[in-house]
Amino acid sequence: MSKIRAAITGINASVPEYILTNEELSNMVDTSDEWITTRTGIKTRHILKGEGKGTSDMGAEAVKGLLKKTNTDPDEVDLLICATVTPDMQFPATANIIADKAGLKNSFHFDINAACSGQIYALTTAAMYIQSGLYKKVILVGADKMSSIVDYTDRSTCVIFGDAGTAMMLEPTTEDVGIIDSIHQSDGFGRVHLHQKAGGSVKPASHATVDAREHYIYQEGQAVFKFAVSKMADVSVEMMKKHHIEPDDLAWLVPHQANLRIIEATARRMGIEKEQVMINIQRYGNTTSATIALCLWEWENQLKKGDKLILSAFGGGFTWGSVYVKWAYDGKNHQ
Ligand code: UT7
Repeated sequence: MSKIRAAITGINASVPEYILTNEELSNMVDTSDEWITTRTGIKTRHILKGEGKGTSDMGAEAVKGLLKKTNTDPDEVDLLICATVTPDMQFPATANIIADKAGLKNSFHFDINAACSGQIYALTTAAMYIQSGLYKKVILVGADKMSSIVDYTDRSTCVIFGDAGTAMMLEPTTEDVGIIDSIHQSDGFGRVHLHQKAGGSVKPASHATVDAREHYIYQEGQAVFKFAVSKMADVSVEMMKKHHIEPDDLAWLVPHQANLRIIEATARRMGIEKEQVMINIQRYGNTTSATIALCLWEWENQLKKGDKLILSAFGGGFTWGSVYVKWAYDGKNHQ
């Protein structure tokens, strides 16, 4: 019997309408379009506006569109996993809220928090449920309303992040396509450099934590940058070596979009050309759990069955990893 693999069979995204430009940011904090562009590659990011709107709204929107696009009855879905660091609330899981809003009734749902690596950690997890033969339709949501934890008085973090929601469908295949392999790693020591100080069990919310602005992202940018550059490249090169993928064989590197300089350094180490790299950081910034699927969604019509892709990410935790995917369908027929 041929091996069952998990194939991505559809992809969708929900991007909020409001566009926050570098120019607008330079009226809010001491920064400039020139600094942001040269240090990060970002020009604009999308921000979810509106009272009572959260991560689940973008996630549910993406899921509803995905169900339509893939012609899937919500009752057929077995499992929905949501990767996020900005859940609607501490509990219940945002995956449950998304499933409810999208009309999923016969499935179970849970969240995965691996910061910027959330999407690839969740992709591997989702793939295991399919490969085991247990489930036939698994939806993976990567969604973050980063603007809810960004301090818009801190110029070193507020220029980087944006909001978005994505959804992909995973189904079994016995063809030579799908999720081929994953390499994942974590190092808890990295929490020192990137975290949110208050709001958890160690330091619950109080007037003092709010006054001290401790409910926002705390990032030591340079330290994170140093790790991100080496780890994202290490794990992508390791995947190429493991599967004997020559630079010319690779259709696409699909990197987490944290900083254009990190993406370019990763591509250089892999020996690939810029034309082989999906880059949309200039339009969306760092949308954390959504970046990789946001790329796949934008490039869907260029993807062809059998294309070799390496998805690669680094993020808070620290967490990092790469996933080797052979694309399962001709994207231009799925728009
Ligand atoms: O996605 C998950 C993980 N996160 C990452 O991978 C992010 C990794 N880190 C980075 O992308 C970069 O470190 C940042 C974009 C966050 C910062 O860029 P940098 O080139 O590392 O800048 P820096 O922190 O070393 O700061 C250099 C200077 C400082 O000024 P002084 O001390 O040299 O006078 C900063 O105060 O740039 C200043 N600066 C700014 N200036 C204008 C920091 N942010 C800004 C800003 N506008 N927005």
